[in-house]
Amino acid sequence: MSSAVTSKIIETRVYDGQKPGTSGLRKAVRIFMQEHYTENFIQAILQALGEQLLGSTLVVGGDGRYYGKEVVRKIIRIAAANGVKKLIVGQNGILSTPAVSTIIRKYKTLGGIVLTASHNPGGPDADFGIKFNCENGGPAPDTVTNKIYEITKVLKNYKIIPDIAIDIDKIHSTTIQVDENPFTVEIIDSVDDYLEHMKNIFDFSSIKTLLQGSNDRPAFKVLINAMNGVTGPYVRRIFSHELGVSDSSIVNVTPLEDFGGLHPDPNLTYAKDLVDAIKNGPYDFGAAFDGDGDRNMILGKNAFFVTPSDSLAVLAANLNSIPYFKKTGIKGYARSMPTGAAIDRVAAKTGVKLYEVPTGWKYFGNLMDAGHLSLCGEESFGTGSDHIREKDGIWACLAWLSVVANLGKSVEDILLNHWQTYGRNFFTRYDYENCDSEAANKMMHHIESEIQKPEFMGSKLTSGSKTYVVKLGDNYSYVDLIDGSQASKQGLRILFQDGSRIIYRLSGTGSSGATIRVYVDSYEDDPASLNKDAQEVLKPLVTIALEISKLREFTDRDAPTVIT
Ligand code: G6P
Ligand code: ZN
Repeated sequence: MSSAVTSKIIETRVYDGQKPGTSGLRKAVRIFMQEHYTENFIQAILQALGEQLLGSTLVVGGDGRYYGKEVVRKIIRIAAANGVKKLIVGQNGILSTPAVSTIIRKYKTLGGIVLTASHNPGGPDADFGIKFNCENGGPAPDTVTNKIYEITKVLKNYKIIPDIAIDIDKIHSTTIQVDENPFTVEIIDSVDDYLEHMKNIFDFSSIKTLLQGSNDRPAFKVLINAMNGVTGPYVRRIFSHELGVSDSSIVNVTPLEDFGGLHPDPNLTYAKDLVDAIKNGPYDFGAAFDGDGDRNMILGKNAFFVTPSDSLAVLAANLNSIPYFKKTGIKGYARSMPTGAAIDRVAAKTGVKLYEVPTGWKYFGNLMDAGHLSLCGEESFGTGSDHIREKDGIWACLAWLSVVANLGKSVEDILLNHWQTYGRNFFTRYDYENCDSEAANKMMHHIESEIQKPEFMGSKLTSGSKTYVVKLGDNYSYVDLIDGSQASKQGLRILFQDGSRIIYRLSGTGSSGATIRVYVDSYEDDPASLNKDAQEVLKPLVTIALEISKLREFTDRDAPTVIT
């Protein structure tokens, strides 16, 4: 224990726009670097916790991006001055988002602060983010983030102990006296707790046999790409040390502050090097994760792409391959509203309850806490379960490997069999990134007024030889089953009589301009159609979606930035 220190009160100025979005406050690094900007937001988070803060323990860590370590040091100094008793910090400031959730739950802390802008690029000219997770391990709900925002609007000062200097690169624990009270910072191994949790969930020995091969089966060759993000150390420990995969099968496994210039978003556009490597290499399986480790992309041999919506449905149908679910049973499934409805078919056939929630992982949390939900996912490459309260990229990969080990089939065959059993929901998403915000808002208003005209209901929309009859057009709203809280304006929906859907949403995770997302989902059970290319099958609906929205006219864009 070192000598006592005292806290200082620093006068500050209010910064506008510190309103947390879908996943915390996410802005350009240079905005966070403004004098007092980051300190204000940290103070607001702590203050929003009210009296519970005194004597509390919090977890701190992030995805290793530029400015992260600096912010860890600021959090240590500000938390110490605000009556926090203990911080559990990942070594080098590194903790994946799923690991933060794991650690909050395991040590029953009051919450955690995650330093990440998820899949957004990193580096001095890119993005940073700060997100608060509550004691259930999940992203703070609107009630908490609104409180944080209200505080940022009136904050006059923050408390800090400027001379605390703790080495966050070394695993150790330090306690100092702050105004008579002990304050502890424990620097922990970033991977240990998460690895232990995964070992309790999955049968590592059967996955190892799959990956190493056995007398009756050749080794199942995988390529795991950590995209220079936070999952590097986790991938190394789990896939290399535990499961015995060779070093050449794990790539980009050193976390870099700028992700090596990559856009760490695991999709067909930004993880193209994985797609190419799988296409041209001897691999049976590929997986990539985003900057903070909660998103995943799964590929089969020849880069056969598993859409996140299908991935969710296949896992739902095969949860018996995973020991965790044998223990807990299957309580329910859920997906976000724009996610393809493939899992709905599994739920219907197996009699398991299905929930639909707005976009954003936080909406799953209440259902899980109340014991209604085992598995959930989103089209935005998020898959997870009630083992934590975040989506979990490495978990999804291990879940897939468990299913492959159990069924003894290729990824493609697993999908084909699944579609033969349940029919296929063709799904695609078109993204128009960095559009002019005003133009995007005008477009959304235009769509909303079109789809709410009384004559829209029942109208027939035609493209080529396909005609769709409108069942309903609305702006999606949601009432939380558990606490009755409401979320409105969560996306414009056009539902057709045959179950097909078009959805328009503005992204809540961008840091500049507006990103328009157009989601198209259509169900087919004709065996001759199951194998078809999704873009081909969905073309008529995409054309209709673009026509109704007048997207080209409003935004001047004739092609999407990303198609998933
Ligand atoms: C984050 C959240 C997800 C959500 C996604 C939506 O990744 O954790 O739960 O689905 O953002 O992003 P968007 O850009 O579409 O708002
Ligand atoms: Zn993420």
